[in-house]
Amino acid sequence: LLNRGGETSVSTHASPAAEALRRERSRAAAAALPPPQEGPQTDFYNSTADIVVYGGAAGGGKTFGLLLECARHRANPNFNFVIFRRTSPQITANGGLWDASQKLYPSIGARPNITNLTWRFPSGAKGKMAHLQHADTVHDWQGTEVPLICFDELTHFTEAQFFYLLSRNRSTSGIKPYVRATTNPKAGSWVKKFLAPWLDKNRLDKAAHGEVRWFTRINGEIVWVGEDWRDDEGLPGKSVTFIFSSVYDNKALLDVDPHYLVNLKSLPEVEQARLLRGDWDILEGAYFSEWSEAKHTKLPDKVPAWYRFFGGLDYGKAAPFCFLLMASDDAGNVIVLDEVYETRLTPSEQAIKVAQVLERHGIAPKSCPIYADPSIFPPQEAKARAGHPGKYIAEEYWDEGLNVIRANNDRINGWARFREYLHDPGAFTVFKGRCPNLIRTIGTVGPDPKDPEDVDTTSEDHGIDSARYALMGRPPRAKQPDRDPQFEIRHKGVKVIDPKRLPHALSDDRQEEYFG
Ligand SMILES: Nc1ncnc2c1ncn2[C@@H]1O[C@H](COP(=O)(O)OP(=O)(O)O)[C@@H](O)[C@H]1O
Ligand SMILES: [Mg+2]
Repeated sequence: LLNRGGETSVSTHASPAAEALRRERSRAAAAALPPPQEGPQTDFYNSTADIVVYGGAAGGGKTFGLLLECARHRANPNFNFVIFRRTSPQITANGGLWDASQKLYPSIGARPNITNLTWRFPSGAKGKMAHLQHADTVHDWQGTEVPLICFDELTHFTEAQFFYLLSRNRSTSGIKPYVRATTNPKAGSWVKKFLAPWLDKNRLDKAAHGEVRWFTRINGEIVWVGEDWRDDEGLPGKSVTFIFSSVYDNKALLDVDPHYLVNLKSLPEVEQARLLRGDWDILEGAYFSEWSEAKHTKLPDKVPAWYRFFGGLDYGKAAPFCFLLMASDDAGNVIVLDEVYETRLTPSEQAIKVAQVLERHGIAPKSCPIYADPSIFPPQEAKARAGHPGKYIAEEYWDEGLNVIRANNDRINGWARFREYLHDPGAFTVFKGRCPNLIRTIGTVGPDPKDPEDVDTTSEDHGIDSARYALMGRPPRAKQPDRDPQFEIRHKGVKVIDPKRLPHALSDDRQEEYFG
């Protein structure tokens, strides 16, 4: 009576209908899917890295490759997969992900559940298509165990969503948990930054198509390590690779639909570069079109102590927290002097970093208003200052002696004000080398696809948010003092100039005024 592999033994009492169903199922289970196409799709299918990102232009066969991957372990009854798209309409739209799976999975005996967007394979293996519309939808996945997590169009998700779900990627099914993602190119996205070894043209140790690299996180930052690297528990880094593709790699599509290529070629230039040539550097309509690195940055310079100092602060824990230190001169022009841009610091650690920056610049914390992310403040500030129960993030800053003030968070007016500064020559300048993250991101954020007046909040917006908060604080004009007390000492009650404290910031004629 033992069933030693091969065909499942069947009860002789089964009804003809059940028998027919069984036969149909075992036929379907043995049926094959179309094979991956030669080239990138096969490279994607064959890679054994923990994370494989299948990128490049549109029509390359990426989504199709993802669906083939999800069916790979269909004979394992404990297997399950999930494919995420950012929004639910992206799953169910005509020709979308669900439609594509409908064309493939029934042929191998899988049964759909349209209401839940799930598939069940004959073995019992199953899978689901799900959206992550809101940043915190990820928490619905807490405690779940999914050996294969997929993201279709990775740049649509936030960095925090991706890395959170990576931590959910567990398995008792005997299959080593892994992640697969597809993505069209998008300059300025966190995906480009994460996959810099493959996508950053200026990188010295560039990785090739399909080459595996390993990363870990050290102090919250991604660090690329060698294959043999082990942490203090003897664990290796996570392996990653990137597969490039373009529509020319998808013969299956070009054979049946040559018009697809014609359509791509009729796109406007920027879209063509991204979607036809797979360009990761070209920006689709930068939101801050006024920004120019040449015009708006300069080498750090000494700043007179009489300038008015202020700051902007965007809170983040998993996402970077950003502090910008700024100064305004007597004409109201603003210079961004310094930045702190770090992930995974506690509020008190952040406050210490900010205080250190002020100290380095010789700025008294009280004299430097810091316009901060409204979400860090208690609802009733006055009460909190007087010992409100529960501690708000802002209080950690106050404890450190910092003058954090609830910023005006009117986005549309805030962006308009920021653009006004960028538009006006000399009104907004950033110190090169000191503020690499602000400079890197400011020109790369795009408009919100749903609201062109706003910025795309899925892009890296921490630097510009901080700048917006600071500028909405109406930076005061500095006033150049007649006699700069910093350079005067009193000798027996008489003011004299201390030549040892030669004021670096004094213009030539003012030096003359002092020293004759
Ligand atoms: N291995 C394959 N076998 C048959 N057809 C394929 C294969 N790979 C891709 N295709 C066809 O190419 C079309 C476009 O591929 P898709 O995966 O949607 O591209 P992308 O996601 O890169 O834009 C699919 O709808 C499918 O018809
Ligand atoms: Mg696709």
